[in-house]
Amino acid sequence: MSSTPTDFNVALVGAGFMGRAHSNAYRQVNAFFPELPYRVNRTVLVGRNPTTLAEQARILGWDSWSTDLDAVLRRPDIHAVDVTTSNNSHAEIAIKALEAGKIVLCEKPLAITVADARRMAEAARKAKLPTLIWHNYRRAPAATLAAQLIADGQLGEIRHVRAVYLQDWLLDDACPHLWRMSAEACGSGAHGDLNAHLIDMTRFLTGLEFAEVSALQTTFIPERRKPDGHGMGTVDVDDAFLFLARLSNGALASFEASRAAAGRKNHHRIEVNGTKGSIVWNFERMNELEFFSTDGELRSQGFRTIMCMHGAAHAYAGHYWPDGHVIGYEHTFTNALADFLAALHQGTPYRPDFADGVAAQEVLESAVASARTRQWVNVPHSQSFHGPTVTAAAAAVAGSTIGL
Ligand SMILES: NC(=O)c1ccc[n+]([C@@H]2O[C@H](COP(=O)([O-])OP(=O)(O)OC[C@H]3O[C@@H](n4cnc5c(N)ncnc54)[C@H](O)[C@@H]3O)[C@@H](O)[C@H]2O)c1
Repeated sequence: MSSTPTDFNVALVGAGFMGRAHSNAYRQVNAFFPELPYRVNRTVLVGRNPTTLAEQARILGWDSWSTDLDAVLRRPDIHAVDVTTSNNSHAEIAIKALEAGKIVLCEKPLAITVADARRMAEAARKAKLPTLIWHNYRRAPAATLAAQLIADGQLGEIRHVRAVYLQDWLLDDACPHLWRMSAEACGSGAHGDLNAHLIDMTRFLTGLEFAEVSALQTTFIPERRKPDGHGMGTVDVDDAFLFLARLSNGALASFEASRAAAGRKNHHRIEVNGTKGSIVWNFERMNELEFFSTDGELRSQGFRTIMCMHGAAHAYAGHYWPDGHVIGYEHTFTNALADFLAALHQGTPYRPDFADGVAAQEVLESAVASARTRQWVNVPHSQSFHGPTVTAAAAAVAGSTIGL
């Protein structure tokens, strides 16, 4: 560990749900990962509304605020730009920031089209700057363990992935027309929002790519009251989106995203079946992993539940509390940030990066094309796959030489 940490000054664009979640990660990361050689500073909060921004900056702990992104990008003391705005602005902000020489961290989905996502990845390659896409669920200790078990061969050959991400907030007819219901602002609805995570998790856990997809989607409520109370807005994105996929090794996979599944608040569950075993991870019980193995005597085989909060055994766990004292949603962002900063210091690639965002976008867009044409669609691949990621924290737990 360096005795004098280097300042890592962040500009955060957007102060909504994700703006708050990321602000918390920037605030917490040095306290829980004290070995990091960077002192993370919440330097400037960037937004559009000067009447609310000062108060948001104060509440979220930012040193200053600005409505002028270009002026912020000209500041040499800003090292990184974090994009937490609506999906249609990710490409423009991220590319500008990369061209200004800033590291970029960006929310998912990377963009609203594959073409934009590729432009973003190309801008990063050209600028030779590291990037991060906030697929934070990879950084739950149990999800990391699942990836490790699969990479170790404990499931054998992968035959199935079965993934759902279900919410129910659109059942409420009174829910107003938000940017999340406009194709212009977000590209797609539950699909880009929720299936994006399932696609990334599938790639992370299995190390497999998507070969072809077949999809169907629907919008249950086509019009909603505008938030200003003046008239109705058209919902031109999906409320629910289902697709089937054949993965690159021939495995069969199914995906379901919905905002209209009564009783399901944030039900994000993925099951992987292989020739030697299975895993199940459910975000609502995010510190646990269900594991089945065909090893051992037949009569005592069965799914068992692993509590993934043992400091000496599980990624990230040792950074928080005594064994078994569980962590939550917000820690997945802190863990991702810690891994990103560790990789930055090591000069090693961080995953998932913009190339992974492109890969997810290619699956999303292929599925949209399939739903539209009612045909199977082959998924294009514009990047080579690098294999399952062993995160820095996971490697450290596994006793590798990674250290700061
Ligand atoms: N990783 C996750 O778990 C997760 C969860 C929710 C949302 N997201 C993603 O995060 C992004 C933001 O979602 P959210 O839920 O925080 O939305 P939100 O509506 O709560 O917040 C978005 C904020 O961005 C601001 N904004 C929009 N365009 C802007 C621009 N051009 N310049 C400056 N500010 C701008 C808005 O005023 C608002 O404050 C989306 O891409 C979404 O898909 C990710």
